[in-house]
Amino acid sequence: MPTQRGLIPPGVVGTPFSPRATRVMLLGSGELGKEVAIELARFGVEVVAVDRYAQAPAMAVAQSSHVVDMLDGAALGRLIEQERPDLIVPEVEAIDTALLERLEAEGRARVAPTARATRLTMDREGVRRLAAEELGLPTSPYFFADSLGQLGAAIDRLGLPCVVKPVMSSSGHGQSVVRSPDQVEPAWEQAQSGGRAARQGASRVIVEGFIDFDYEITLLTVQHRDGVTFLDPVGHLQIDGDYRESWQPQPMTDQALAEARRIASAITSALGGWGIFGVELFVRGDQVIFSEVSPRPHDTGLVTLVSQDLSEFALHARAVLGLPVPAVTCLGPSASRAITVEGHGVPVFHGLDQALAQPSVQIRLFGKPKVEGHRRVAVVAARGQDLDQARQRCQRAAEALVVELEPRP
Ligand SMILES: Nc1ncnc2c1ncn2[C@@H]1O[C@H](COP(=O)(O)OP(=O)(O)O)[C@@H](O)[C@H]1O
Ligand SMILES: [Mg+2]
Repeated sequence: MPTQRGLIPPGVVGTPFSPRATRVMLLGSGELGKEVAIELARFGVEVVAVDRYAQAPAMAVAQSSHVVDMLDGAALGRLIEQERPDLIVPEVEAIDTALLERLEAEGRARVAPTARATRLTMDREGVRRLAAEELGLPTSPYFFADSLGQLGAAIDRLGLPCVVKPVMSSSGHGQSVVRSPDQVEPAWEQAQSGGRAARQGASRVIVEGFIDFDYEITLLTVQHRDGVTFLDPVGHLQIDGDYRESWQPQPMTDQALAEARRIASAITSALGGWGIFGVELFVRGDQVIFSEVSPRPHDTGLVTLVSQDLSEFALHARAVLGLPVPAVTCLGPSASRAITVEGHGVPVFHGLDQALAQPSVQIRLFGKPKVEGHRRVAVVAARGQDLDQARQRCQRAAEALVVELEPRP
């Protein structure tokens, strides 16, 4: 792989499919990647969408696509060599990040925000140890455990209730709250089967003291060539560790907001690089507790599709390309609501017309090729005079949108 394609000259963009095309490889092509791909395409960037399965959402809006197991370093390395992207933009955690780090260290690839950030955040241990042990940020008390016996011992020290999660998982998969001693073993079992490492035979879990927060936020933080920009805090509701609703701006005391920004800038500057980060924080009174961070757009940030002049996806595209990020204009109280379905089949959406009849509502249908189990298939977002009205509009639109699952032939 040549080294000269590793850097995008500031402010220069080529033409797709030409020798000087600015080529970005998206690793992960879900609904968030789809919005990033659209924003990159608006600048004439050539987007190569990659995921583990065909017809992933971002593939519908990219110039080319590839299906590869991104945890398979040999296969991913071959693909990167073949495509020679100017920039690699990870959209998911399940990537052989050691490969990315090696390629970046050798000057053979550039990763947004950095390869190290993608490695440290791909598992809960890397990011937790960085935040709590290196940076001294406030977090829930925690232990790591590699066996049911170790988990029991950790819970004896932490006390109940606590939360058990596979170190490698997202969207609440494999996660459970333990409220009584008889729930320890089921929590261990659930973490074993629900985590990403289940495929690889590893079994490490993190057990955290349960934080009885007043509310939780994502503080979207953009690191860009001219500094750091904090977006208004996004409040959200999670059910079983999965995002269902978000809204912006979440009201906060001045002190809590200042502390949230202090924590966010500490963790994002330690991770480094240019791009947007979703910093997840729990808030209790004026106290702010760091939970986790994604070095990429965040699902709760889908609300920014309607709440800001530049969405989190537009801001990510600008930041990773080394373009200026201007002051962001907030358009008013806004909300989003995930549309999830349970079952098996190919989604058919009914009532889109009625759902869109709600004032200010915007809808994204992701175009996922199939549903197997629990899956997010669309999102609705709306503004309102206040947060209540924005949330109500989302709720009405969500009720109007009916998802049928067509059995597959
Ligand atoms: N220690 C905790 N105390 C209370 N609630 C928690 C704790 N950890 C996680 N949660 C809840 O579960 C959600 C998902 O957990 P998180 O660690 O963010 O996992 P994921 O990576 O799957 O998003 C959080 O947003 C929060 O609502
Ligand atoms: Mg989370």
